Amino acid sequence: MRSAQFAAAVAAFAGFAAAKTCTKDIEISEPTPVIDCDVVDADITVKESVAGALSIEGPKQLKGDLIINNASNILSISSSSINSIGGRLEFQALNSLNSINMDSLESVKEIVMKKLTALQTITFGSDTVTKAESVEITDTDLSSLSGLMLTSVKDLNINNNDRLTKFDSALVNVTGQLLINSNGRDMEITLNDLETASEIQIGNVKTFEVPKLSVVKASLKFDQCDKLESFNAPNLTKITDALAFINNKKLSNVTFPKLTEIGGDLRIVNNTELTEITGFPKLESAASINFGGNFEDIEMPKLDRVSGTAEVSTTSTKDDFCKFFEKADSDGVIRGGADCTFDNKDANQGGETKGGRKTDGSSSSSDNSGDNEDAAGIVGVNTALMGLALIAGVAQLL
Ligand SMILES: *[C@@H]1O[C@H](CO)[C@@H](O)[C@H](O)[C@H]1NC(C)=O
Ligand SMILES: *[C@@H]1O[C@H](CO)[C@@H](O)[C@H](O)[C@H]1NC(C)=O
Ligand SMILES: *[C@@H]1O[C@H](CO)[C@@H](O)[C@H](O)[C@H]1NC(C)=O
Ligand SMILES: *[C@@H]1O[C@H](CO)[C@@H](O)[C@H](O)[C@H]1NC(C)=O
Ligand SMILES: *[C@@H]1O[C@H](CO)[C@@H](O)[C@H](O)[C@H]1NC(C)=O
Repeated sequence: MRSAQFAAAVAAFAGFAAAKTCTKDIEISEPTPVIDCDVVDADITVKESVAGALSIEGPKQLKGDLIINNASNILSISSSSINSIGGRLEFQALNSLNSINMDSLESVKEIVMKKLTALQTITFGSDTVTKAESVEITDTDLSSLSGLMLTSVKDLNINNNDRLTKFDSALVNVTGQLLINSNGRDMEITLNDLETASEIQIGNVKTFEVPKLSVVKASLKFDQCDKLESFNAPNLTKITDALAFINNKKLSNVTFPKLTEIGGDLRIVNNTELTEITGFPKLESAASINFGGNFEDIEMPKLDRVSGTAEVSTTSTKDDFCKFFEKADSDGVIRGGADCTFDNKDANQGGETKGGRKTDGSSSSSDNSGDNEDAAGIVGVNTALMGLALIAGVAQLL
């Protein structure tokens, strides 16, 4: 008892002596500032005039934000003392910034890095792991994000980093949005440990590997991935909202061997190399189906409940594709009814597109007035997508 009290007293005294807390905001005006605080319970900002190698040593814990914006002559930013940032790390419009080295940093609430057009390397946390609620990396010259060692994040948004062609990450859970779009051509993404995710939107990538992904709690969407040839989700069983593949011009193979349930719309439109939909051997249910493309074959042997409609169309001159949907409709599988056309040259504009033939020999009412119809088709796809985005957004608020 006595020794425990003594130890507690010593610990309290040592803690008091060691941790000097500063509570006023700090504005840094030179590259090697002296900051005599262990804890900064305030924000640190850096003046636009600071130039050269900025080194922030001293503070270990920053409870507020670290903000460095518009300092176009800063070449590098380093700190080996800061290990946590309770607020935001925001680095924006630093045109000459080449490297960031904060090798003690283990946790940050939010990371925003934008318009860092010369930034080539980042190091956060040496052998530890960085946790963050939200990370946005936009418009940098980074060719690698290996400095970002995250296992868990709420939102991760990586876009418009022209030289970024690879993203390998040990991420396990993404609870908010994972948005990866418009980075380097042929970008390859490998998330070998990802187990659960919420909203996933992928654009302009060549490969997206998620071998362990088992649940998507919002939507999974691939849009305009010009080099994506195949996507396989070997362990994915459930998607709470929508699954969409839109405008992926080389995509020819889509496989979801364990997927049983899609809570929202299943939309596969304008992937002109995708001629068969046979990668859903276990799929039992979806809220609605919208297919438009060059489909010759479809197999969904377990499908038994589509609560809404199936609006589907193919350029194929064979009627097999439509026969599948008509049978599913007459078997009562598609509760909202199926509307299918084949031999429709405009099928890639989306399943709602009129035109083509029906299996009963009639032709679909086609107000073929050239541009107008094209425009209507495109609008159809986009408004539907926006609807999905909205639903996903609302779902996240809940
Ligand atoms: C940085 O500069 C841009 C344009 O010059 C300006 O709009 C922005 O407000 C500045 N940001 C800060 C934090 O000063
Ligand atoms: C990931 O999520 C699962 C299930 O929600 C949880 O059990 C696990 O601890 C999380 N892992 C990490 C690294 O956040
Ligand atoms: C697949 O997901 C399940 C959880 O649904 C998990 O237990 C299993 O380990 C995963 N398999 C692989 C190969 O990742
Ligand atoms: C179909 O996809 C291609 C790119 O793969 C795109 O150029 C075209 O605009 C898309 N068509 C529609 C109707 O969205
Ligand atoms: C499609 O991809 C799956 C999974 O990667 C693979 O097993 C299958 O052989 C591929 N099918 C074709 C026709 O390439």
